[in-house]
Amino acid sequence: MKITVLLGGTSSERNVSLASGIRIVEALRSRGHEVTALDPAKGVLSATEETKLSASAVGTAPPSLEALSRVSEDAFLPTLTTMPEILDADVVFLALHGGQGEDGTIQALLDMAGATYTGSGHLSSALAMDKDLSKKLFRSAGVQTADWVMSPASVEEIEGMLGLPVIVKPSKQGSTVGLSVVKERKQIEPAIAEALKYDDEVMIERFIAGRELTVGVLGEAALPVGEIIPKHEIYDYECKYTAGMAVEEFPAKIPPEAAAFVQQQALAAFESLKLRGYARIDFRMTSNGEFYCLEANTLPGMTELSLIPQGAAAMGISFAELCERIVQLALK
Ligand SMILES: Nc1ncnc2c1ncn2[C@@H]1O[C@H](COP(=O)(O)OP(=O)(O)O)[C@@H](O)[C@H]1O
Ligand SMILES: [Mg+2]
Repeated sequence: MKITVLLGGTSSERNVSLASGIRIVEALRSRGHEVTALDPAKGVLSATEETKLSASAVGTAPPSLEALSRVSEDAFLPTLTTMPEILDADVVFLALHGGQGEDGTIQALLDMAGATYTGSGHLSSALAMDKDLSKKLFRSAGVQTADWVMSPASVEEIEGMLGLPVIVKPSKQGSTVGLSVVKERKQIEPAIAEALKYDDEVMIERFIAGRELTVGVLGEAALPVGEIIPKHEIYDYECKYTAGMAVEEFPAKIPPEAAAFVQQQALAAFESLKLRGYARIDFRMTSNGEFYCLEANTLPGMTELSLIPQGAAAMGISFAELCERIVQLALK
């Protein structure tokens, strides 16, 4: 098959996307597909660029906002759909993360171009990207999620409704960028100001103490539950993308009934946003065994060390096989 992998882009998660994308390119080539790597911020990657990328790591911090605005200057998103790499592909594999690659914008463009692409459609992608709307739909589908308020809200309102600590985060970001754990009331306003750098909508959420679990969904089935044990208090950017900064256990060491329950909650969350193909649903689990859904990721990390590939491996699905199945699901 002719497959074009879209990777890179202009979001804060650009480097993560490059790391995922190059692995997907290699995996699909190993399956005999004719693969092109296309960065909507730069163009088609040359063989030399691919080799260099293949050898590099994500880094411990996201690119600065200034660096990203430089990348954006050369971006050609609106003309993407006139490119032969898109029009002639049997499948476009989306390895973008965050921003317009994940929020439904690219998906809508690809719909207009009549392209077949992996993962969720434009509406579901937009819903999953918006944590406020996602949580409303989770609740309506019986998926428990932590109480929250959206800014603007006064410090008194926030403390009165949620207590302390709280988590302050941009409503439509990823990779823990712009997120703070707030333990004292005087930190609430600075944390909101920080999150506002990344999004005009900021969410303040009750802090759920406990363990961090994740469930991949592939097609109509939940993958084995994973547990993430980060070296920091929360699963931040550095823990997510630096080797050795978090331990991931697949399958998670939780009772079988708890695993079955959270898998069912993951499927309910997946359906509540009408997701398609694959996604990863993240949870917190309290010490008394209650689960709170944090979010759905429609374009989850896809390096071999990422969580969905580890979940798939726990049931005997290799990375290349996983990429192949995601392509097949797109053609359905
Ligand atoms: N309400 C919460 N309680 C405890 N930890 C949280 C909460 N919200 C987020 N976190 C921590 O921050 C991380 C990132 O938050 P998340 O909502 O998944 O946003 P992102 O889209 O940036 O991944 C989570 O993986 C978790 O470790
Ligand atoms: Mg997350």
